[in-house]
Amino acid sequence: MKILLFGKNGQAGWELQRSLAPLGELIAVDFDSQDFCGDFTNLDGIAQTVQTVSPDVIVNAAAHTAVDKAEDEPERVRVINALAPATLAREAGKLGAWLVHYSTDYVFDGSGSKPWVETDPTGPLNVYGRTKLEAENAISESGCRHLIFRTSWVFAERGGNFAKTMLRLAQERDRLTIIDDQIGAPTGADLLADVTAHAIRTAVKRPNVSGLYHLVAAGETSWYGYARFVLNFARQAGVRLEVAPENILPVPASAFPSPATRPKNSRLDTAKLQSTFDLSLPSWQTGVARMLTETLEKNR
Ligand SMILES: NC(=O)c1ccc[n+]([C@@H]2O[C@H](COP(=O)([O-])OP(=O)(O)OC[C@H]3O[C@@H](n4cnc5c(N)ncnc54)[C@H](OP(=O)(O)O)[C@@H]3O)[C@@H](O)[C@H]2O)c1
Repeated sequence: MKILLFGKNGQAGWELQRSLAPLGELIAVDFDSQDFCGDFTNLDGIAQTVQTVSPDVIVNAAAHTAVDKAEDEPERVRVINALAPATLAREAGKLGAWLVHYSTDYVFDGSGSKPWVETDPTGPLNVYGRTKLEAENAISESGCRHLIFRTSWVFAERGGNFAKTMLRLAQERDRLTIIDDQIGAPTGADLLADVTAHAIRTAVKRPNVSGLYHLVAAGETSWYGYARFVLNFARQAGVRLEVAPENILPVPASAFPSPATRPKNSRLDTAKLQSTFDLSLPSWQTGVARMLTETLEKNR
């Protein structure tokens, strides 16, 4: 099997380089790759890359993920997040290749408190969510065989992340206020990558699994709950924190005005994914604890 991976240096892309390697020949590119164009602002260039490589599977981990910045450059974001995936879908269709793509809880309006299922009505609140939804529609309407995974609150050990920011702030400040009215599931890029590899193995044998799936770790929390978990873990590991537990305070999102509105209910129901691919998704705490163990060991 020949796999073409776009966005190889992002959180998911980095882990996909590891998890996809045993499946066959892996050609991994980024926006500034020299051998093949991986720049999603160059639609002809990425179409040419697909035609030249002629893969069995295209995996798209590239995206414009700066949600607030996206509000200021909607046209550029649309090219990267919607028109480029649509181009990949068109090229995949011509080749009879699979397209694996990632989408987001931000396609929903965040109302209610029930986990969203794949067939629920969408209603994105910001530019990022609208462009990600446009990509989903373009891919499914293209007729190519595809796997679209909607995920949320992605973290990785490599690079910056929410947990590392909380650890730093808790060592610098004696009071922290954290958003408590947005609910979701922190999901490791490693989990996304491993499930993707498993799903591709299944899909090449069972083409009727083509479709849209929700893929997040099990359980749910708020950013406040996530921060408390991180800081309890660090304290138990012997990290000296400036902030006392009683001075970590929950606040509504309205306390932190931002250019992009974010959904309050980001819960995603993963039953379809788990039953189709015979998987059992681990709790978000399992993945976050693993990432924290690595982070704290590096900082010793
Ligand atoms: N992060 C989350 O919390 C989250 C939540 C829900 C869904 N998702 C989705 O999950 C997928 C993976 O996300 P992630 O967290 O791995 O994102 P990420 O770490 O931001 O990775 C995205 C990659 O795309 C690259 N990129 C940006 N502009 C590009 C361009 N013009 N051409 C080619 N590559 C470009 C980025 O490069 P630079 O870093 O140099 O810009 C980065 O390497 C995305 O589809 C995202 O929308 C993410």
